[in-house]
Amino acid sequence: MKESDLQAIKQRYGIVGNAPELNRALDIAVQVAPTDLSVLILGESGVGKEVVPRIIHDKSARKHQKYFAINCGSIPEGTIDSELFGHEKGAFTGAVGEREGYFGAANKGTLFLDEVGELPLSTQARLLRVLETGEYIRVGSSEVKKTDVRIIAATNVNIQKAISEGKFREDLYYRLATIPINIPPLRARGRDIELLFRKFSSSFAERYMLDPIVLTEDAKMLLQSYKWPGNIRQLKNIAEQICIISQERNITAEALIQFGITDDSNTGGGLVLANQAQPGQHSYENEREWLVHALTSLGKEVKELKEMINNQQIIHQQPAHILQEAEYAVAPQYNTTPATRINIPSENIQNAVEYVEPTPRSMKEVEEIQIREALQRNHFNRSRTAKELGISERTLYRRIKDYGLEKE
Ligand SMILES: Nc1ncnc2c1ncn2[C@@H]1O[C@H](COP(=O)(O)OP(=O)(O)O)[C@@H](O)[C@H]1O
Ligand SMILES: [Mg+2]
Repeated sequence: MKESDLQAIKQRYGIVGNAPELNRALDIAVQVAPTDLSVLILGESGVGKEVVPRIIHDKSARKHQKYFAINCGSIPEGTIDSELFGHEKGAFTGAVGEREGYFGAANKGTLFLDEVGELPLSTQARLLRVLETGEYIRVGSSEVKKTDVRIIAATNVNIQKAISEGKFREDLYYRLATIPINIPPLRARGRDIELLFRKFSSSFAERYMLDPIVLTEDAKMLLQSYKWPGNIRQLKNIAEQICIISQERNITAEALIQFGITDDSNTGGGLVLANQAQPGQHSYENEREWLVHALTSLGKEVKELKEMINNQQIIHQQPAHILQEAEYAVAPQYNTTPATRINIPSENIQNAVEYVEPTPRSMKEVEEIQIREALQRNHFNRSRTAKELGISERTLYRRIKDYGLEKE
């Protein structure tokens, strides 16, 4: 691929970095796109796998057809077959209507099966069949249906372990991995680490209307020697934390250590978090985390309050500003001007992030923000996010689709 084409793709999809392995992965993606071959994207969690299938779809002859990204790890085992392959009316308790399923809905298009290693064995058998013959059967039906779907799957490296433990079919693995694409871990990307940090910190500074932060030379070196077990997702979170919390805008290596960045050059690596919580116990020692948690809880209470009022049908008797005012508090904007509206009971927090009057938001927007932030806090782990929000995984899954939150 020509260098200018490569740069155009990076720009279009917001991909930062020039590491040769990254360029090679993008090159393979573009080359394989016009074929109908199955592609398996391999890489640790947080390396940026999710953009690759989108590029492949957009560069294929199927680009005007449907594209679905399905996170196999977030769909409960009991419903995954019906989600993927559809079901007949009455196929199981609660199946009031029939359902087409993604394999039917994506006919002529592309399906991205993310975290494919999480699929139960029975579903793997169905998947192998549809890959080999284009045929599938809805749950509760005996009629064989045909579909023409291009499959792109992604998995983290643990799939090898799953194969050796008999949890993932080896034949399916080889069938999916006709073309494997390896996305390199962040620690192998050299100067890209610094580039990515700069990109994220400057966009967060802009979003929160804060001064940009600048890395000192020793800080840059530390970023490169750290192992980044959570890869780019982790880097993005840390850039955001530092950008919001640090009063000092010149970031030194010492400051980075406060955020858990350790010098791993002589060790086996690994994540050492400052203020790390014990298993099963949540630590809110990080001020921003505490603040977000407080606001999310407040948001939940406001929602409940609104629902309660709606249920009692007395909403017209409520002074509108009471509800609105409460709603405001859910999604703050940050600034360096003095706090004006809500009183957060911690001096530290008021020093770190302060509150200015935001514009009003609808309940839907509030819900979207709440879900997006909870997803980010839980690193897109849907079961933890659902638990935190007090909703079922299924409801969360629907909201994610409704609000288009699959991608960050
Ligand atoms: N090269 C990159 N440039 C900019 N952002 C990236 C890059 N790679 C990954 N990201 C961002 O990092 C986060 C994690 O990427 P994702 O594709 O979800 O990882 P995973 O490999 O776990 O699926 C996302 O917010 C994504 O936009
Ligand atoms: Mg992913």
